[in-house]
Amino acid sequence: MRSVKVFLMGALLIASSVAWAQKVGLLMDSYVIERWRTDQTLFTEKIQSLGGKVLVEVPHGNPDEQVKLGKKLLASGIDVLVIVPTDAQKAIAIVEAAKAANIPVLSYDRLIPTKDVSLYISYDGTKVGRLQAQYAKDKVPAGNYMLINGPKSDNNSIMFRNGQMDVIQSEIKSGKINVIADFILDDWSELEAIMKVEEFLSNNSVRPDVIIAANDALATGALQVLPRDLAAKIVITGQDAERMALRNIVAGQQSMTVYKPIKPLAYQAAEAAMKLAKKQPVGATKMKYGDIEVNAILLDPIVVDKTNYKDTIVKDGHLSMSEINN
Ligand code: GAL
Repeated sequence: MRSVKVFLMGALLIASSVAWAQKVGLLMDSYVIERWRTDQTLFTEKIQSLGGKVLVEVPHGNPDEQVKLGKKLLASGIDVLVIVPTDAQKAIAIVEAAKAANIPVLSYDRLIPTKDVSLYISYDGTKVGRLQAQYAKDKVPAGNYMLINGPKSDNNSIMFRNGQMDVIQSEIKSGKINVIADFILDDWSELEAIMKVEEFLSNNSVRPDVIIAANDALATGALQVLPRDLAAKIVITGQDAERMALRNIVAGQQSMTVYKPIKPLAYQAAEAAMKLAKKQPVGATKMKYGDIEVNAILLDPIVVDKTNYKDTIVKDGHLSMSEINN
């Protein structure tokens, strides 16, 4: 009899904790770029360890679908909504709907530019751009630069570009740096990068000394069409520490990547999301952006190249030596 009672009490306890578990909506963008599955896995893992439950929706890169799915999540009884916006401007509609429903919103990795976002958590995007351009400028202070950036619909692209310009704007003005091409893609698409660089190489005789590619997918695209001996001579930047990028870095084809460890971002976002869900305060600083101000947590990105990848990426377990070498 006693054991039945204990069992019933236990079951009741589990049932009530499930019923009371914070419900966290996670609205992704797409899985085209390698990192995002890891973001989702680590975020979910942390929320669960804190006693919460995650409901995920993925619009696969379609911004209008993202708005629909965001509203669907808001209607499903969530306590907080975490968004990786596909299109920064369009995602404002989701934040407005959340505000009307009194549900806090966490803007994950990419900023949704409205003051109604409860928290923005990301690596410092302007710094990412600065690190890329500084790396290139240190190696090639004067020469032909090709710029390949992601879509303007992702606010990070704007931040990356601002950071790059902080570093090379005056050399562009003085003529030391000659921008031979400035590609702003419609998507973070390797294929689009391949097409742009291929078209450029076949229509022009001038060759780049530097390619500032805003992320690894774009660098990988450029490398598909650049002759190997040219790639080995020039500086090519990237971002995300993707497996292919690390292989290319070790092979002397890509020069560097900006490493943004995913675990600290995903875990801190999960901790903050749980606090927002419980209406508790989140430790953040104020970030001014244009004419808005948001609560932000900004993490510090790391430059990785051939000289330090073992002490950073491999040491952290982001990629193993066998993943890089095989
Ligand atoms: C950016 C993100 C980068 C990269 C890119 C493509 O917003 O900060 O790490 O992954 O999107 O998904």
